Amino acid sequence: MDIDLIRRTGIDAAYKGAEILRGYFGNIPAVRKKGEKDLVTEADINSEKKIIETIRSRFPHHGFLGEEGGAVEEGADAQWIIDPLDGTTNFAHELPIFAVSIGFSYKGETVVGIVLNPMTAELYTAVRGKGAQLNDKPIHVSHTASLADALLATGFPYNLKEMLPKLTERFSRCLFEARGVRRLGSAAIDLCLLASGKYDGFWEENLKPWDVAAGTLIAREAGAAVTDFSGGPYSIGGSQILATNGRIHREMTEILSS
Ligand code: IPD
Ligand code: CA
Ligand code: CA
Repeated sequence: MDIDLIRRTGIDAAYKGAEILRGYFGNIPAVRKKGEKDLVTEADINSEKKIIETIRSRFPHHGFLGEEGGAVEEGADAQWIIDPLDGTTNFAHELPIFAVSIGFSYKGETVVGIVLNPMTAELYTAVRGKGAQLNDKPIHVSHTASLADALLATGFPYNLKEMLPKLTERFSRCLFEARGVRRLGSAAIDLCLLASGKYDGFWEENLKPWDVAAGTLIAREAGAAVTDFSGGPYSIGGSQILATNGRIHREMTEILSS
C-alpha cells in the first residue's frame, strides 16, 4: 500500500472540498434540518461528492463512509471516513470555525488523518507511526501537568434531551476543576487543537466515526492519550471520547466517570 499516495490524495481531496465550502460561506441557498438541531446544507453535500469523486478517481476499489452519503463498499479493507463539513452550525451562522475531515483506515485501523480549516488554511495531517503536523511542521500535545492549570474543550450532541442531567453534571465538574472550558463547534478542530498543545483535554459523547477518525489519529500521533471516560479503550464511533495530553488524563477520568 502506497501510504504516501493515499496521504497526498486525501490532502488533494480535502482542498477540493474546502474550495466548495469557501464558495458557499456566507451565501448558503438553503439550510435543511436532519433533526431538531442537526443541520445539513448544499455545501455539506457538494463537498462530500467532490471529495469522494477525487479519491475514487485514484482508488476505484476503496470503500467510503461519508456523513452525508452513508457507507459505500461497506466491509472493504481500505476505507475512507469523511466529514465533508465538521461544524455545520458554525458554517450556517457564518462563524469561520469548521473543517473538512478525512481519515483513511485499513482493516479497521486509522492510518492517515487529514483535517483542513478552509478559512485559515490550517492543515493538520498524520500518518500512523510517523507523527502529526500542522502545515508540515511537527506538533505535540501540551505539558500541562494538572487539571487546575488546564484549558479543556467539549462539545454537545444533537440528541441532548435524554443525556442532559449527566452531561451537565460532567460539564459543571470540569468547569469547576479546570482553568477554563471551550465549546468551539467542530470536534475535528478540537482534537487538532489538543494535538497542537492549545487545549490540554477534550471530551464529548455520541460523536460519529466521521467526526473523529482523522482527529484521533492526529491527536495520538502528537502524543495524546485517547480513551473512554473511565480510561478504557476507545475505538472510533465509541459513545464516549476523552482525549488529553496524557498528564491530566487520570484527573479527567476521575471527574468524568464518577
Ligand atoms: C458536530 C461538531 C460538533 C459536535 C457535534 C458534531 P457536524 O459535527 O463536530 O462540534 O459537538 O457533536 O455532530 O454536525 O457539524 O458535522
Ligand atoms: Ca461532524
Ligand atoms: Ca458534518
